[in-house]
Amino acid sequence: MPNPFKPTAGMTPPVLVGRGDDIEDFSYALDDGVGAPGRLMYLTGARGVGKTVMLNALGDLARQRGWLVIDETAESGFIDRLIGSLSGKSKTHLSSVTMPTASLSVPGAPVAASLNLGSAQFAPAADRALDFRRAMSERLDKLERKRQGILITLDEVQASGIDEIRALATAVQHLIREQRNIAFIFAGLPSMVEDVINDNVLTFLRRAERKHLGDVPLDAVRQAFADTIEANDKNVDDAVLSALAQATNGYPFMIQLVGYWTWRASETGPTADAHVITPEAAAKGIAQAKIKLGDMVHGPALDGLSAMACDYLLAMAQDDGPSSTGEIARRLERNPIYANVYRTQLIKEDIIYQTSYGFVDFKLPYLRDYLREHGAFHQMRRTIASLE
Ligand SMILES: Nc1ncnc2c1ncn2[C@@H]1O[C@H](COP(=O)(O)OP(=O)(O)OP(=O)(O)O)[C@@H](O)[C@H]1O
Ligand SMILES: [Mg+2]
Repeated sequence: MPNPFKPTAGMTPPVLVGRGDDIEDFSYALDDGVGAPGRLMYLTGARGVGKTVMLNALGDLARQRGWLVIDETAESGFIDRLIGSLSGKSKTHLSSVTMPTASLSVPGAPVAASLNLGSAQFAPAADRALDFRRAMSERLDKLERKRQGILITLDEVQASGIDEIRALATAVQHLIREQRNIAFIFAGLPSMVEDVINDNVLTFLRRAERKHLGDVPLDAVRQAFADTIEANDKNVDDAVLSALAQATNGYPFMIQLVGYWTWRASETGPTADAHVITPEAAAKGIAQAKIKLGDMVHGPALDGLSAMACDYLLAMAQDDGPSSTGEIARRLERNPIYANVYRTQLIKEDIIYQTSYGFVDFKLPYLRDYLREHGAFHQMRRTIASLE
């Protein structure tokens, strides 16, 4: 039987736990009509918290209403890809049909080649905005007659794509002002989205509704395990369900990892049982899930941090519970003001949180264990990088 759990980035889980309110909000905004505030929204939160799957779920709401939904990632060339989707022409044909500048995104061309062409080859942002707006308007003329609209979702927003994001946002702003039937949702890691929101040109985006996705309640996680396991014809007792839910810490990615590896342990090896998820299978699954979490979340999350932010976390990992910020500064041999810069950055990224005044603890589950095991490795890699 296929494993019902989906520990894969962007994959819709069997049960989307704890996001009912956010889904309800967007559903209301769609039905509320043109100009509803919830039609301009952004999602942030730590890696693996479920931003991409939320974009999918919100997109489904619009699709159910007959809307055109276009999902894009904020990688170079996305405006052209959007225009291509709107005009119904495939991306590969876009370059020859709509605009000559799009020849930059010729499939198969090495990335370096397209970057080397330089910005002179791109149409100015204002032109791109206009092209996009025109394409949107044409499509909307038809859709609005049937009371349908267009939702654009933009994932992995980051400041490096700011020129195109400006073009997109400018066009969206105009379309909203023209009372067109549209919605725009973008998503990214907190610091990335913040850079974009704080762009001087994009003040309009500051009015977007913010959904900061976080942990989900453990009883909802427990219920999701019960439902998914039962729907796939296995039994599980209360104690095992509690152990599975506890092990996730309410962190969405961990729900899928724990579910996946536990299910797998119940299908293969000494813990296999055709009818029941045994405590032994759960224990094995949980252990495996923690290892995978390190590879898939902790490793990449640390790679994205500055050396000093990593050192801050390593200093915290020496404690068994919440760390005193003063003590961390001493361990880092820095003054508290300097250390505070990194504390603030890590809090913003949802990696740590303030437990009480002057104390912080890890927010990403099992990061402490991961750092204790792999900290030396990360430090060594940085030392090597700084020598190069
Ligand atoms: N609410 C949820 N309930 C259950 N599982 C979830 C939930 N949200 C996300 N997941 C699962 O967690 C994993 C990560 O989700 P997703 O890729 O959407 O995260 P993300 O926030 O986009 O991460 P990244 O920052 O790396 O892009 C997926 O396997 C997904 O199925
Ligand atoms: Mg994502």
